[in-house]
Amino acid sequence: MLTDNFNRVINYLRVSITDRCDLRCRYCTDSGFSFTPHPEILRYEEIIRFVRIAASLGVKKIRLTGGEPLRRKDLSFLLKQIDAIGSIDDISLTTNGVELADAVETLRDAGLRRVNISLDSLRPERFAYITRVDAFDKVIRSIDAAKRAGLHPVKINTVIIKGFNDDEVLDFAEFARNRGVQVRFIEFMPFGDGGLWDRSRIVGSAYLEEQIRRVHDLHPSLNSEKGPAKMFHLNGSTGQVGFISPMSTHICHECNRIRLTPDGKIKPCLFSDTEYDVKALFRQGALDNEVADFVRSAVMAKPERKVETTGAIRKCQRSMRNIGG
Ligand code: 5AD
Ligand code: SF4
Repeated sequence: MLTDNFNRVINYLRVSITDRCDLRCRYCTDSGFSFTPHPEILRYEEIIRFVRIAASLGVKKIRLTGGEPLRRKDLSFLLKQIDAIGSIDDISLTTNGVELADAVETLRDAGLRRVNISLDSLRPERFAYITRVDAFDKVIRSIDAAKRAGLHPVKINTVIIKGFNDDEVLDFAEFARNRGVQVRFIEFMPFGDGGLWDRSRIVGSAYLEEQIRRVHDLHPSLNSEKGPAKMFHLNGSTGQVGFISPMSTHICHECNRIRLTPDGKIKPCLFSDTEYDVKALFRQGALDNEVADFVRSAVMAKPERKVETTGAIRKCQRSMRNIGG
């Protein structure tokens, strides 16, 4: 078992497999960004090796993210190889949904169990504004295709930004009810090079919950203890809404995860810039047990909680595109 200095069990690995993306979300990218050169990106065999070593240490759950993971060729190959390790209970994907609809059955057959699809607005023109791409219909098609393919649950990630989509919370609750999906509202975090983040644009989960309770009965979901989202059932539907509150609450004591960046760095904490360069070890010819020791030391470096100085949360150097959400 992998445990850190604060007795947290680390059994969840999020792997960002590319920083490429077909959207240009305003809170993630500005016009001046550049992509990591291909030789710096981990090859599939390196990712698989890392996952195998992490699995031998006790990691049971893998999420593939990006950038946009579907930008990477032959994702099915990677899924199959991870599935073949044998001890991973859960393989999921975080995607923007643009290219998912046509790929979803192949991915499911390769071992994918679940998807999280990002969707920040239910209004096509707002979607096009925030992502800078007119792809709303494709994302909706992907959500329906994921349901149809039997991936369960289908989760929708919605970042709420004051003045942009905070008037859509009830529409999203209705969307969750009608489609039988889980909509998770995420507080806006200070990442990215988009320059959009400002403390005043955070909308706290408590306020959103109150808005929804005015219209809907919310019943806590039994699974609510698992993961950072506080989930609720909606009457008369399999749909749920939930709240992820990294800005207004401390969720760090139950953190069970580490991250691997596209360029092969272990990131023990989302809110810290400290990274462990595992790619360098790989390419210097390190043995598996040396890599395993390195992973253990990275886990030991997980801070107890996110770094806050004088009430302001420090901005990470990397945007979500490089971290994988
Ligand atoms: N704050 C909150 N969520 C963010 N995401 C990207 N940037 C931010 C941010 N600054 C979300 C994406 C996606 C998930 C992987 O992370 O919208 O749903
Ligand atoms: Fe985990 Fe760091 Fe996020 Fe806390 S701030 S939940 S420790 S990644």
